[in-house]
Amino acid sequence: MDRRQFIGSLAAAPLLSSASLAQPATQRLIAAPHRQQVLPAEYPETDLWAFDAAFPGRPLRARQGDRLTIDVENTLPQATAVHWHGLRLDNAMDGVPGLTQAPIGTGEVFAYDFALPDAGTYWYHSHAKSMEQVERGLYGPLIIDETDPPDVDQDLTFVLDDIRLNQDGTLAAFDNFHDLSHAGRIGNLWLANGLIDPAYPVKRGERLRLRLISAANARTFTLGLMGVEGWVVALDGMPLAQPQRIPEELVLAPAQRVDLIVDVTSAEDEAVLVTYERNGGYAIARFPISGPAVATRDRIDALPPNPDYPIDLANARTATLLVEGGAMGGMRAARVDGQELDARDLAGRGLFWALNGVAGRPDAPLLDLSLGESVRIGMANDTAFPHAMHLHGMHFSEVYEDGRLGPLRDTVLLNPQETREIAFQAHNPGDWLLHCHMLAHHQAGMGTWIRVTA
Ligand code: C2O
Ligand code: CU
Repeated sequence: MDRRQFIGSLAAAPLLSSASLAQPATQRLIAAPHRQQVLPAEYPETDLWAFDAAFPGRPLRARQGDRLTIDVENTLPQATAVHWHGLRLDNAMDGVPGLTQAPIGTGEVFAYDFALPDAGTYWYHSHAKSMEQVERGLYGPLIIDETDPPDVDQDLTFVLDDIRLNQDGTLAAFDNFHDLSHAGRIGNLWLANGLIDPAYPVKRGERLRLRLISAANARTFTLGLMGVEGWVVALDGMPLAQPQRIPEELVLAPAQRVDLIVDVTSAEDEAVLVTYERNGGYAIARFPISGPAVATRDRIDALPPNPDYPIDLANARTATLLVEGGAMGGMRAARVDGQELDARDLAGRGLFWALNGVAGRPDAPLLDLSLGESVRIGMANDTAFPHAMHLHGMHFSEVYEDGRLGPLRDTVLLNPQETREIAFQAHNPGDWLLHCHMLAHHQAGMGTWIRVTA
């Protein structure tokens, strides 16, 4: 390689190393129509909507303790808003139209500006008509670096998605009642960083940090990682107190994230990230391996913890959330704006799901908590479908049957007929959404909210 080629390839490399972090002036993120090759090259391109003409949107990166200052400009034919998924941020910056801000109309700009108390792997996505806008491509990774990051040779982010495309490259239609009342918009093509089965070359002996983010509309990925050894170090952005060996099957529900630190020690010539489907495993990304054989490395340390808000289980407020509806669910009626509607009238309004008998976001919060109060919410899934329940603004722990607390998460998968209890300390004031991240379910009624009053 001559010097010129070398400089050329450097310039083209994505700015992923922490050395490249210049502290921001205000950034601008433009939401606009965007055309990109998504299907294999022999098929037509796809008309998407994207941030800054890239699908997925460019990685936004900052350091823990800094601020993120981003003007979002909307040039789409629809109103939008941006949610910074998993960040424990200022409520006014949470990006929920009608709850925390007015929607950003066509031609308008919204100035987001917030502190970053936590390190970890997050993502940003449209929170307006999200079943459609996220599917069209309005999402990207949001990485907050630890002030003292772990020592790795490569830090790689994988935004996973499954998109539903027609053979002519167009997105399948969105007005689909079957999606709203069943599992949601399950795609027909798996993507990692917008690409079909991309390759990321690695060297034997390297230690990698892999950040997996699910931007899928509704599919729960069951993933396997072959050809590397390592640990799960964080879930939904939050460090585990103790790194755990990577399980055979990593379940990643919509919106969830997992951070892995792995060593490339295999004698094979490739490591593979696999998605397990009913009829077998498929590569979703691969890592061609080069270099001479190496010895196994030492185990890694836990990531430095983020600020902790301990839960007072014994004195916690309790609440329950009954999840009802959907096909084969037998929900007869639900309230909408204070009015009782039968299943037929609900369907006429595109509503198929209810939380505690209410379809759609109610005027009154599910809970009005005082700042610092602990709460336990028992969630019962009385439906035939899984739901990925997401709380904005605060992470929670699952309360296991033996009373132990699970790791901090912002999204928990609730399988059909399952009951799970979550608990958290209401440490962040504001109005916070609690909804299903199967985006069709949210659109069709599965969303409520919680108020934390200072
Ligand atoms: Cu990822 Cu309410 O959102
Ligand atoms: Cu759901």
